[in-house]
Amino acid sequence: MSDTDGMEGLEVAACTRCSDLEESRSQIVNGDGPPDADVLFVGEAPGANEDAEGVPFVGRSGDVLDDELRDAGLSRTDVRITNCVRCRPPENRDPSKTELSNCRPYLEREIDLVDPDVVVTLGKVPGEHLLERDVAVTSETGSVERVELGGEPREVLVCLHPAATLYDASQQDAFRATIEKAATIAGASGGQSRLGEF
Ligand code: URA
Repeated sequence: MSDTDGMEGLEVAACTRCSDLEESRSQIVNGDGPPDADVLFVGEAPGANEDAEGVPFVGRSGDVLDDELRDAGLSRTDVRITNCVRCRPPENRDPSKTELSNCRPYLEREIDLVDPDVVVTLGKVPGEHLLERDVAVTSETGSVERVELGGEPREVLVCLHPAATLYDASQQDAFRATIEKAATIAGASGGQSRLGEF
């Protein structure tokens, strides 16, 4: 059995790797957005709204993300949004290391197929999962690091989780600036990628 069995292209059709998540999920929540997007956002795991609708970031965090994307000149249909783990953990707990690693081949395949200019990690869990180190998200938001993902070196932009701005309004400016940076890297404001500047 290959690492991505059960995955039709970008979509995971069926998966039984995590017994807890098989029980807690209503459905598998695959990534959403164009398969050739320049920007790929990676969150932690679906919450209750995402689990019910089958689409990532459709709750309050999704509203915050949508608003900032719009202000940065992007719409949700311009970007791809996915999660480290595609099934809702029970009681919204953090995904375990095993669950993260069980789902990792699907994420790697998605990154490989989408081939984005920039991967934006939304929050601590995806930041640490993709950078494979401790991440202090509040102080590191907006920083870019190159790491091997989906078979090649990629730019990873560390970003706060949109929910952080709901708990602490003082984080709004940093979140906004990071989303603007993602849009700039992907060339949304000038038509040309400005990766070299970061
Ligand atoms: N938070 C996440 O990390 N992912 C979602 O899909 C929704 C909220």
